Amino acid sequence: MIALHINIDHVATVRQARQISEPDPVTAAGLVELAGADGITIHLREDRRHIIDRDVRILRETVQTRLNLEMAATAEMFGIALETRPDIVTLVPEKREEVTTEGGLDVAGAPESMHKGIAQLREAGIRVSLFIDPEEEQIEASQKAGAEDVELHTGCYANAERGILQDKEYERLVSAAEFANEQNLQVNAGHGLNYINTQRICGLPHLRELNIGHSIVSRAIFVGLTQAVQEMREIIILNS
Ligand code: PXP
Repeated sequence: MIALHINIDHVATVRQARQISEPDPVTAAGLVELAGADGITIHLREDRRHIIDRDVRILRETVQTRLNLEMAATAEMFGIALETRPDIVTLVPEKREEVTTEGGLDVAGAPESMHKGIAQLREAGIRVSLFIDPEEEQIEASQKAGAEDVELHTGCYANAERGILQDKEYERLVSAAEFANEQNLQVNAGHGLNYINTQRICGLPHLRELNIGHSIVSRAIFVGLTQAVQEMREIIILNS
């Protein structure tokens, strides 16, 4: 079955709105694991706008499933990852002014320092995933860079108008998933997925993991985290 990794950044967004200690993403992680999540994803941003260093440290100790740390490919972040040793590191592009991650990582044009960082993570036994647009050039570059996984950016599919435009974006994802599998890369996907558009994404060939955050945390405000996770899991179970 396709694994569901839940991004709990936006629990921390609510906490940081007041700069106090609640709601604690550590509590959220425990709850979503109990509800059936296969992994916990967090993005430690340079500006610490939601997840903060303390969360990474504590979650490393408390997460019982798998901890996936999303981060920019900077010297600071490679240092934190090597020290805290999450199960997976997903490298993402990061711009201070963006509201959320925009576009995939340009692996094809990446500097040598990124390749060195990936090699260090792998030597430390950390799985490396690269968040990329569904393009052959980026997939080939990811394979050459030494990644084990690619996370295909589903944002364009999610934002496209339903109909021909969304069908086109879906076909791009299908081709990319086939190509990534041929390159011996594990195929993951995420960004912008919700309770409506995830169903079709589950039909992508070779798909192993989904990373979903905002829609689940949003629904949790109304129905609670447990139900929000279980409803997404049901969509995945029915369509895997
Ligand atoms: N995957 C990556 C690489 C991301 O950066 C994000 C957003 O932090 C997600 C998945 C989850 O996206 P969303 O919150 O839209 O579900």
